[in-house]
Amino acid sequence: MKQLNAIIVGAGSRGNKVFADLMANHETGFTVNGVVETDSVRRLAFRQRYNVDAGHVFESAEAFLNAPRFADIVFICTPDRTHFQLCQLIAKAGYDIVLEKPIATTLSECVALCDIQRRYGNGIFVAHVLRYSPIFLAVKEILDEGSLGAIRHIRLIENVGHWHFAHSFVRGPWRRVDESGPIVLTKTSHDLDILQWLMGESVRSVTSHGSLSYFRPENAPIGATPKCVDCPRQSDCTYSATRFYMEPRPVWPYDVPLGGGVDTLAARRSAIQEGPYGRCVWLSDNDVCDDQVVLLEFDTGRMATFEMHANTVENTRELTVLCDHGEISANVCQDHLVVSRFTGQPDNIIREPIDLPRFGDSHGGGDLNMLLALHEHLTAGKHVDLVTSLESSLNSHVLAFLAEQSRNEDNAKMLVAEMLVPQGVVAPETGAGGERLTA
Ligand SMILES: NC(=O)c1ccc[n+]([C@@H]2O[C@H](COP(=O)([O-])OP(=O)(O)OC[C@H]3O[C@@H](n4cnc5c(N)ncnc54)[C@H](O)[C@@H]3O)[C@@H](O)[C@H]2O)c1
Repeated sequence: MKQLNAIIVGAGSRGNKVFADLMANHETGFTVNGVVETDSVRRLAFRQRYNVDAGHVFESAEAFLNAPRFADIVFICTPDRTHFQLCQLIAKAGYDIVLEKPIATTLSECVALCDIQRRYGNGIFVAHVLRYSPIFLAVKEILDEGSLGAIRHIRLIENVGHWHFAHSFVRGPWRRVDESGPIVLTKTSHDLDILQWLMGESVRSVTSHGSLSYFRPENAPIGATPKCVDCPRQSDCTYSATRFYMEPRPVWPYDVPLGGGVDTLAARRSAIQEGPYGRCVWLSDNDVCDDQVVLLEFDTGRMATFEMHANTVENTRELTVLCDHGEISANVCQDHLVVSRFTGQPDNIIREPIDLPRFGDSHGGGDLNMLLALHEHLTAGKHVDLVTSLESSLNSHVLAFLAEQSRNEDNAKMLVAEMLVPQGVVAPETGAGGERLTA
């Protein structure tokens, strides 16, 4: 297999623990060959972990671009607000790029990156990894095979998981719209992408309801204090940081407060004493929705509904596709789907359960599969219809921006065509994924 040299920009959870780790431990065709990381502790740890040549370790993207060229592809895995600036800089140097989602945090920046890509001719691929997960690929294959007839409705529910929501969206970097973006963009652009990909048709309108309803001061237990370390409710609070992060588990999310530093109980205690992960979940400064619903109306009048909930036991996605002759139901974290065919009788349904290979990651194997598909795309031109090109991924971002606008404007029905024209979004000839831009 031809090896492509990859440089990781942002050696955090995604860059280090997901992409670099997969490249180091699986035959993906990508070799970890460099790193750009602003944090010196993480930079050194990454260099040692992957045995990176000292000349390929940089503290800024500018330093990397000024060095002699050694990388074939750049993985941008930095915080959301940095994506636009880093991606345009690196794209202008002509590199192929894997860009973590979201593409950028405003629509005009997303559109500007599409323009830059067209001008500089490189490939930019968005890490909408769900499209590559075996479960969604299997659903797509069943729908395309045609025996269920046409899709009538799609229902997708994202159960974020109460602990995951508290970790990432109450205490973590995605807790505030002004610091990262609305959750419908930063978390669920994946889901909006999947809905449109499965339906295979343009969206006409978007309507959304949602709010921050639970993780608010009025729901704090009596006597709760702003920091968990001082709180008299530590022993009976579901979300006490002292119990959650003091568990000496060296894996996400338990080790995130350490910021890549040495893992000792004292370091964990100090991290939750001083840092954001020790905040009371009801007395923090978070403002992203913890409950949101989006209704998509497609050009033919068919609909898809999407729900995002914080207060769930599991961190999973549940999908139901209703068709002319039956339905498909799938649960991502269980790697399981069922095709049920109508017979006209209540007690004679034909059910075909399908178990998919277990990967144990939160994307059901999508991260690894994306690397495999992308490598074959870059080296052999395969998977043109699958790869999440910048153009094809832009559609989901348009829907996310519209959903947020609808939510903020009394749940008004937002017409996609009206969003596209003022932003100057024009349909390119074809995207790198071979798809026309029809949000
Ligand atoms: N595709 C997915 O399913 C998925 C899942 C989780 C997160 N994400 C996205 O991935 C991105 C990274 O998330 P994460 O959880 O790994 O964050 P993280 O905070 O763990 O890692 C980000 C790293 O980037 C570094 N960094 C910041 N600015 C930099 C710069 N200018 N140059 C180089 N390095 C810089 C930070 O020091 C940090 O080490 C985010 O945009 C996030 O929304 C995507």
